[in-house]
Amino acid sequence: MITKIEKLSPNSALVVNKIENLVGNSMEFLSFREKLTLSNISHLEKHKEWMAARVVMNQALQCFEIPYPGFYKDEYGKSHPMEHIGHVSISHTRGLVAAIYHQNLPVGIDVERIQPKISKLASKFLSKDEIDHIGDDPKKLTMAWSSKEAAYKIFGKKGISLKDNIRIIQEDLNQPIWNLKLESAGITSYIYPIQIEIHEDVVLSYSNW
Ligand SMILES: CC(C)(COP(=O)(O)OP(=O)(O)OC[C@H]1O[C@@H](n2cnc3c(N)ncnc32)[C@H](O)[C@@H]1OP(=O)(O)O)[C@@H](O)C(=O)NCCC(=O)NCCS
Repeated sequence: MITKIEKLSPNSALVVNKIENLVGNSMEFLSFREKLTLSNISHLEKHKEWMAARVVMNQALQCFEIPYPGFYKDEYGKSHPMEHIGHVSISHTRGLVAAIYHQNLPVGIDVERIQPKISKLASKFLSKDEIDHIGDDPKKLTMAWSSKEAAYKIFGKKGISLKDNIRIIQEDLNQPIWNLKLESAGITSYIYPIQIEIHEDVVLSYSNW
């Protein structure tokens, strides 16, 4: 299964790891407030996920020799570094965690496992045109779902529906980067290039600036 620490550009880094590899890691680097948050997560799996996400975020920052600043969540649930030293995004799925960091631009990341049941959910996150374009292959549908989640996280605000406001405008779905357009009344439209990787039964999607 996928594990990596990768500098994507002079300004950005990506880390993916198995949660089991990170359990037992020292959490001394966390801020005082984060240690409190962690001690209040009683659900064992959630505790491990939260902890592992901060470890991979720290590893991404270490690619730029940036000391861990501590993170806070805004009103929409998106994490930001305390010292305003860039942008981060994290994602977890069963057994896996991923983080992306960029010094200047907002980022989004998502990891999902490919599951056949996604076919039944397609109409919840895809428009009719998108369903016609993508078809019913669970791998392609998971790529669509995951890339939309990554785009959603880049924008980061509520009031955006995956189905109605984030559109896959990519014609050739065999390309490793898909363009997604976010548009909604009253906001500037954005086109987000999302890199999509497949690793066994896992889809990894992230902003590629
Ligand atoms: C917020 C959301 C993107 C999280 O995605 P997920 O697949 O459930 O979970 P992931 O593990 O990938 O991501 C969780 C992380 O997302 C981050 N996150 C939460 N809200 C966020 C937001 N508004 N913007 C950016 N990142 C956010 C958090 O860091 C969170 O991790 P943490 O709680 O450990 O800090 C998702 O729940 C969501 O709201 N999706 C879009 C809404 C939608 O249209 N859903 C209906 C489609 S059927």
